[in-house]
Amino acid sequence: MIQEYSEDMVKDLGEVTPQVSLKEEEYRYTPKTLRDKVARKIVHLSAECADFLFRERYGHRAIVLETIASVPGMIGGFFQHLKSLRFIRDDRGWIRALLDEAENERVHLLVYSELARPTKFERFLIMFVQFFFCIIYFLLYLFSPKTAHRVVGYFEEEAIHSYETFLKLVQDGVTENVPATELAKSYWGLKEDARLTDMIIATIKDEMVHRDVNHRFANDKEGTRMWS
Ligand SMILES: [Fe+2]
Ligand SMILES: [Fe+2]
Repeated sequence: MIQEYSEDMVKDLGEVTPQVSLKEEEYRYTPKTLRDKVARKIVHLSAECADFLFRERYGHRAIVLETIASVPGMIGGFFQHLKSLRFIRDDRGWIRALLDEAENERVHLLVYSELARPTKFERFLIMFVQFFFCIIYFLLYLFSPKTAHRVVGYFEEEAIHSYETFLKLVQDGVTENVPATELAKSYWGLKEDARLTDMIIATIKDEMVHRDVNHRFANDKEGTRMWS
C-alpha cells in the first residue's frame, strides 16, 4: 500500500548530501499549497501522456523518460552554483546532490538503452521534448525553485510507480527476465549472474533518493531563496 509522505520518513538529510537516509517505500506527498497542487497536476498530465504513448512498453518508456529526468538536476545545480557565487556563500551540499542526480539519471538511460533501442519516432520525441523541457524547467527554477523541486519530487513518485509496475511484469513472466547488462553490473556492483529484476530494484532505490531529496529541497526555505 502506498503511504502518505511525512517529514520524519526522510530521517536526516543532514547538511543535504546525496547519502540520504531514505524510506525505501512508495509514498505520496500530499499537496499542502497551491504550488504543490500545480506541481502535481503538471506531473499527472505528463504521466497520462507517457501512458498514452508507451502503454506497456516499459523499456522504451524508461529510455525516453530518463532523457528528461536527467535535466532538472543539471539546471538546479547550475542555479545553485550561481547563487553560491553571487552571495559568496556555501551551498550546503546542494550542488553536488543535484549534479549527482543528473548523472545517476543519465546512467539509467545508458543502462536501459542496452536493452531496448529507441525507435526513430522516439528519437525525434527525445529531441523535441528536450528542447522545450529545458526552457520550461529553466524558467520554472528561475521564478519558483520550490515548485521546480516539488515537480521533480512528484515525477520521481511516478518513476517509482512505473518501475514497480515494470518489475511486477518481469516477476510475473510477462517480460523476460534477461541477464543484467555489463554497465548495470559495474555501476551498481551487482552479482555476475544478476538479472533485469536486480537492475530494476537498484533503479527504484535511486529514484527513491531523488524523490526524498527533491521533496526535502522543496520544503527548504533557505535553499530555495534565490535572491537574498
Ligand atoms: Fe531514473
Ligand atoms: Fe529519478
